[in-house]
Amino acid sequence: MEKQGGSGCKRQVVVESPVRPLRPCFIFLLFLSTVILIILLAFPDSSFQTDWWENLSLYTYYRRWTKPDRPLGPSPTTIPPTTVPAPPSTTIRPLPTNNYHFGYPRNYHFIVDEPDKCNTQTPFLVLIVPVAPGNLAARDAIRRTWGNETLVQGKKVQTLFMLGLPGGPDAQKLQEKVNQESQVHHDLLQSNFLDSYLNLTIKTMVIMDWLATHCTNATYAMKIDSDMFLNVENLMTMLLRPDIPKMNYLTGMLMWNRPVIRNPNSKWYVPVEMLADNRYPTYTLGMGYVFSNDLPVRFVEVSKDIKLFNIEDAYVGACMKKLGLSPTNSPDPWQWKAYLGKYNRCEFSKVITYIVSRSSQIVDYWMDLKKTPGSPCP
Ligand SMILES: *[C@@H]1O[C@H](CO)[C@@H](O)[C@H](O)[C@H]1NC(C)=O
Ligand SMILES: *[C@@H]1O[C@H](CO)[C@@H](O)[C@H](O)[C@H]1NC(C)=O
Ligand SMILES: *[C@@H]1O[C@H](CO)[C@@H](O)[C@H](O)[C@H]1NC(C)=O
Ligand SMILES: *[C@@H]1O[C@H](CO)[C@@H](O)[C@H](O)[C@H]1NC(C)=O
Repeated sequence: MEKQGGSGCKRQVVVESPVRPLRPCFIFLLFLSTVILIILLAFPDSSFQTDWWENLSLYTYYRRWTKPDRPLGPSPTTIPPTTVPAPPSTTIRPLPTNNYHFGYPRNYHFIVDEPDKCNTQTPFLVLIVPVAPGNLAARDAIRRTWGNETLVQGKKVQTLFMLGLPGGPDAQKLQEKVNQESQVHHDLLQSNFLDSYLNLTIKTMVIMDWLATHCTNATYAMKIDSDMFLNVENLMTMLLRPDIPKMNYLTGMLMWNRPVIRNPNSKWYVPVEMLADNRYPTYTLGMGYVFSNDLPVRFVEVSKDIKLFNIEDAYVGACMKKLGLSPTNSPDPWQWKAYLGKYNRCEFSKVITYIVSRSSQIVDYWMDLKKTPGSPCP
């Protein structure tokens, strides 16, 4: 046994040996990974694996919601303390579990609308961004960048924002601002449910309802979060491939066989009464998923029979399953990135999505990618 523990690995490196036998360090790592693999295989439903998976995948995505200073999107801080009591420190009380049709989009109606956006000139692709009413910064960043791409490879692209009702003491003031913003930009859709994190499934289904009723002739639509960098050019290249179906198609970053989180301390806790299954059907991660526009009307229809639960992307997966469909991997699945770590012009020129942590990054990266002359890759 090496006396210095961890540094033993390092020391082995400098030992000169003409035959280079396997280093103890390497053997140890091999052993460790084998043990982990065996544990994962032996206890497929253990909480160890659940936690492990949670951290590896869900965590990287959803931690955006848990950061107290999260500057983008409908953060928990937008839940007004007056209408939604502060959750008890341990348990998150999600939506009422006894009302089957709570999430059904036709229960709500649009108070701000753009009824002719899709009719005057049918877009090929509609991008709809769920965003909190107060998050003007995110909307402006998107308007200045990928939301301003109206014609890509000869195809019309339309970007719209979906809002719920503002809550809290400033609700009325905020609503007036929303009305004014709509007059200026004509790109806001607003439905009359309370905008909150736990109501995101309602928001997604209201997006589907709008597409099904106001935009039936578009070919593809995408739900994309407000804290996303989107490379519309690459998305369009993908959609225009001859092998991409124009019907029954949903793609993005695929999530397979993910466990439903039963830990009441988790932000993604879903009680058994809300969803009995312990695994989600295959779904596409909520940061951004694109679908053929024949699906929204069918999602709205089947959602009548699928009990609401508060994980919007998995809920869309449940709608797909009910329709006898499944999301499809895109031709280059690696283009759907949650995090890249660090901005890299070459890599950004190749991806479709990437999560940013500040609205200003969308603008910075966009400017660098689009406005800097020269090839992005060396
Ligand atoms: C996941 O990782 C985070 C930080 O890396 C940690 O705070 C959290 O406790 C971990 N959760 C689980 C279930 O391992
Ligand atoms: C949608 O397409 C159909 C068939 O091509 C056409 O009759 C209809 O007018 C179109 N609707 C809109 C709103 O463009
Ligand atoms: C969108 O693009 C057009 C033309 O490229 C430009 O004139 C306009 O200022 C842009 N809008 C925003 C909000 O940046
Ligand atoms: C969701 O929206 C409904 C309709 O506005 C509202 O009654 C409910 O309180 C909201 N739920 C949460 C958790 O915000």
